[in-house]
Amino acid sequence: ADGDPAAGEKVFRKCQACHMVGPDAKNRVGPVLNGIVGNNWGTVEGFKYSASLVEGAEAGRVWDAETLDAFLTKPRDVVPKTKMAFAGLRKEKDRTDMIAYLAQFAPD
Ligand code: HEM
Repeated sequence: ADGDPAAGEKVFRKCQACHMVGPDAKNRVGPVLNGIVGNNWGTVEGFKYSASLVEGAEAGRVWDAETLDAFLTKPRDVVPKTKMAFAGLRKEKDRTDMIAYLAQFAPD
């Protein structure tokens, strides 16, 4: 996609209660999101995922832009019993910008 990463950084404020990115990122309520775009589901070391997300991980699911967009729209539509307590990003531009922002962070 062709989102605006600087705009996505502002939208990321909605995620920061639970997630970190960047060189000093640590797991919080949610896993570190470095390298998430294009990565397999549920691979962050030391993070305890929901059974629902683990099931998808075992099925080989990948966080491509399309899947991330759907998850960020309404997490439970993609991971039915996810423990990510987040209503979702209603605006398509916010989601596209978010994905562009997250794509800047390389895997650890
Ligand atoms: C999982 C993104 C907001 C808590 C995830 C995953 C992504 C993500 C991509 C999957 C990670 C993986 O497979 O390794 C985001 C983004 C957010 C956001 C971009 C903001 C737009 C939040 C908020 C919370 C939260 C506000 C806490 C209230 C979690 C938790 C998980 C998770 C607990 C693990 C889910 C599970 O095991 O089912 N998030 N998140 N997230 N997130 Fe978020």
